[in-house]
Amino acid sequence: MKVWIEGRVVEGDEARLPVTDHGLLYGDGVFEGLRVYGRQVFRLPDHLRRMGAGARAIGLEIPGGLEALERIVLETARAHGQDEAYIRLIVTRGSGALGVDPSTCRDPQIICIVDGIRLYSEEKRSRGIDLVTVSVRRPPSDVLDPRVKSLNYLNSVLAAREARLRGADEGLILNLQGTVAEAAVANVFAVRDGVLRTPPATDGALAGITRASLLEIAEAQGIAAREVSLGRFDLIDADEVFLTGAGARMVPVASLDGAAVGTGGQRPVFDRLDAAFAEFVKTRGTPL
Ligand SMILES: Cc1ncc(COP(=O)(O)O)c(C=O)c1O
Repeated sequence: MKVWIEGRVVEGDEARLPVTDHGLLYGDGVFEGLRVYGRQVFRLPDHLRRMGAGARAIGLEIPGGLEALERIVLETARAHGQDEAYIRLIVTRGSGALGVDPSTCRDPQIICIVDGIRLYSEEKRSRGIDLVTVSVRRPPSDVLDPRVKSLNYLNSVLAAREARLRGADEGLILNLQGTVAEAAVANVFAVRDGVLRTPPATDGALAGITRASLLEIAEAQGIAAREVSLGRFDLIDADEVFLTGAGARMVPVASLDGAAVGTGGQRPVFDRLDAAFAEFVKTRGTPL
């Protein structure tokens, strides 16, 4: 693991952060999860744009701006040296007084962690994962805007914890209206009669970059795709369901709340999109 911190790249176990950083004290900051595919950082400008928007939304000025972030990501990924990797980019509010007021923080910290990728097992990928609807709901945007990828991820942490306690792989999170928002750290897609559907960001989904890529790929492949509200029933009734995200990439869902999804493990749309995605990543990367 290589880590950029305080202006240089160090080994993972050498990276240190002051305990008074509001990123630690209050989850005050923003982050991104990116992937290196074939020595290229996938959709780096899109990740930086999303991080910039999130930082503006919480009034956090990124030292050196997006140009500095780009340089840091590429330098850390080069130091890591692997063709395939996972990148975690973080900007904290910095050290300040113990109160929540961020105006006492003077030195936002940029941290970039590059590590190997933890993938689902091949067995999970081919069989599909088990999903359960969890009891925690995605907060509405006037409580904690899910479109800001902030360090305040306790909502997702508790969703993932509940899913594991109940013996499932991932948790499905509903919004306060009871429609599907997303999974803890992944977007949800359902296929019914050849049409691809995913909830809109206004239903509590992060505007995922993998999600946007699949919508783009579907259009190019002539697969009808819609951003539309989905209920739990729509997923159980779907022919195929899958999750997407920088970490998960694309992973099929075998069951929801114990009910099998689809029939006989056939996933023609997923398989087509999965193959197209493998080609797509080659065309949308920033070389190291
Ligand atoms: C809450 C949430 N939803 C969805 C996603 C998927 O987004 P992306 O495809 O940009 O990784 C993430 C990614 O980390 C996430 O944290």
